[in-house]
Amino acid sequence: MYRSQRLALNYFTAAMVLFGIMVVAGLLAASQYVSPGLLLNKLDFNVNKMLHIDTMILWLLMGFIGAVYWFLPVELDRETEGVRLAEVMFWIFCVIVAVVAVVFVFVQYGPSEETTLWLINQGRKYVEAPRWAAIGITLTVLVFVYNVVFTAIKARRVTGILAVLMVDLIPLAGLYLIAFPAITDMSVDLYWWWWLVHLWVEATWEILIGCIMALALMQLLGTERRIVETWLYVEVALVLGTGILGLGHHYFWIGTPSYWLGIGGFFSALEPLPLLGMVAHAVYDAGTQHMKTTNKPAFYWMMAEAFGNFLGGGVWGFMMTLPQINLFTHGTQWTVSHGHFAFWGAYACGVISVIYLALEKARAIREVNGAAWRWSFALLNIGLVGMVGALLVAGIAQAFFERAIGGSTLLAFMNAQGSPWFVQGITMRLVFGLVFAAGYAVLMYDLLTIGRRRVAVSGLKMGVAGGVA
Ligand code: HEM
Ligand code: HEM
Ligand SMILES: [Fe+2]
Repeated sequence: MYRSQRLALNYFTAAMVLFGIMVVAGLLAASQYVSPGLLLNKLDFNVNKMLHIDTMILWLLMGFIGAVYWFLPVELDRETEGVRLAEVMFWIFCVIVAVVAVVFVFVQYGPSEETTLWLINQGRKYVEAPRWAAIGITLTVLVFVYNVVFTAIKARRVTGILAVLMVDLIPLAGLYLIAFPAITDMSVDLYWWWWLVHLWVEATWEILIGCIMALALMQLLGTERRIVETWLYVEVALVLGTGILGLGHHYFWIGTPSYWLGIGGFFSALEPLPLLGMVAHAVYDAGTQHMKTTNKPAFYWMMAEAFGNFLGGGVWGFMMTLPQINLFTHGTQWTVSHGHFAFWGAYACGVISVIYLALEKARAIREVNGAAWRWSFALLNIGLVGMVGALLVAGIAQAFFERAIGGSTLLAFMNAQGSPWFVQGITMRLVFGLVFAAGYAVLMYDLLTIGRRRVAVSGLKMGVAGGVA
């Protein structure tokens, strides 16, 4: 195993720990919806939500970085350039995340002055980390970009997938810089902030996960490079062709000119196309290889990624992307339903798939299988889809009572919060959140023990080092 791959395993471990914190914070925030007095003035909803979504961004980023460190040396047949520096940055990254989490939980607020921006919170949703920490995260990502580019330069060779990856990493890292400026005009601030959020999840991350899934497909199903690269190019063209101007679907109501209604509506309505292409690609490859694989969990999680990306991002996004509809659904639990489905489907499932692939090699498992992964797969996905359904019901109630009938007033908002559909929706979200959390626990058990468990085969006890699992 390459040193870069050992580093990848560290990244995966850190990602799974953060995933756990995310689940706990999510459960707390969901409980506060049901019981608003819970932990009031101690660990308020806004702090839990911030922890929830910031750890989500970070664990997914860590998963992506880990995946690239895992595949890169194999792709180029050589150790990752500057891997020592990357190892140092990994630990720095972990310390930063731990300190920021402690500050979020124990300090929470600061006066509205520069020091708060530097030491406590920069206040931009999803990337709230204070400046000192954001600088550290930027450096970690820059070292990562350096590793990828210089490994290719030293190898004097670049594959199609790596070329796409390298070009993608430049805007991906650059967009993060939008986390820094403190703009006081709210319209201008949101205008740029959406570049970061939208152009990450609907452009640069989408291409990054496309590259990672392409590399994974070749390892998992032995799909030919020619095929995965051709699909990747088509997907990249479609993602960028629709996703860049699709940005306009966030510019409907923030004070930007009204031409965004047409541009945003039209281009974002086309955004499901590349995601549908990815489903076709995954199903096509699985079919041509007769679904033969030694790594069932990686295969199932990859399929979940393809379908989840299309359904959660494409279909759930499409539902509310036309301005005529968004007028009623904007910022309701409908949006939250889509946010959960899309992040889970497009990114989380892909990261879990790669972790199973990596463990197969790292622990020399002949065939990755067993009951635990099935339980975790079922519980996590039932939990997630259950939450998504419950939130959709709550969101529809809001769109109807609060917006369509109530005319978007504060009173209508309060009334909708009391509607039985809304109340039942958020209660069921908590119930399914607990199912999801159970799935997380089983996933952790499986990841920690797979290939290390002693298994009984045909009545014989076999102590297999990295055995059938
Ligand atoms: C135990 C499971 C989970 C629970 C109980 C939970 C709960 C919550 C709650 C209560 C919020 C705040 C919603 C609001 O402000 O109205 C939230 C926001 C969010 N969660 Fe989760 N969550 C869970 C898992 C996940 C997962 C697995 C993902 C994605 C991988 C995710 C992604 C998000 C995102 C993106 C938001 C922000 C949505 C927005 O503001 O529009 N959550 N979650
Ligand atoms: C697959 C990757 C995607 C992810 C991870 C994702 C995630 C999210 C999240 C988290 C939000 C809430 C942002 C916030 O206010 O905090 C959001 C909003 C939105 N998304 Fe997506 N999305 C994806 C793809 C799409 C696609 C393909 C479409 C359209 C077809 C779409 C349409 C929308 C719209 C219209 C909103 C704004 C909702 C509102 O006005 O409240 N999304 N997305
Ligand atoms: Fe968007």
